[in-house]
Amino acid sequence: MFDAAPLAAANKTELYQGLSEQMRGLLQGEHDRTANAANFASLVFHSLDGLNWCGFYFFDGTELVVGPFQGKPACVRIALGKGVCGTAAVTRQTQVVADVHAFPGHIACDAASRSEIVVPLFDASGGLIGVWDVDSPLPARFDEDDRLGMEQLCRLFLASLSEIA
Ligand code: SME
Repeated sequence: MFDAAPLAAANKTELYQGLSEQMRGLLQGEHDRTANAANFASLVFHSLDGLNWCGFYFFDGTELVVGPFQGKPACVRIALGKGVCGTAAVTRQTQVVADVHAFPGHIACDAASRSEIVVPLFDASGGLIGVWDVDSPLPARFDEDDRLGMEQLCRLFLASLSEIA
């Protein structure tokens, strides 16, 4: 199986390149959303330092519902527009939050979380699939390199759902 030990990398760009390569291999040939989401969350959680939660919320047509994740049990349902996840879904923009306590309406699932990044996920027609949410107990854990890296990883996840094997 996959070795999800922290990757040796000179910088974040290199780190995410290595992680993307691993992710491509991990998802290759499988299109099941739950299976790929579960392995995606596990690989990220065990490859990056300073995380306490990462996982998916999928849009059920009304609200966001928690999907495969790593970390402590989480809030099950998040309304569109609520919290960091609901804000990412509605604005259609990745949210990088340096201090979750300063984010109006932040939903504290794990009290340890101090910073967070949420990437919204869309299908080829622009329909909302859900969001990818990563939390850290460290303040300002995520920067522009993390945004680019997480968005690249999410593109691999989205591609895996529809690729011809
Ligand atoms: N903090 C998120 C809720 C989800 S948990 O962090 C797992 C938010 O404000 O949307």
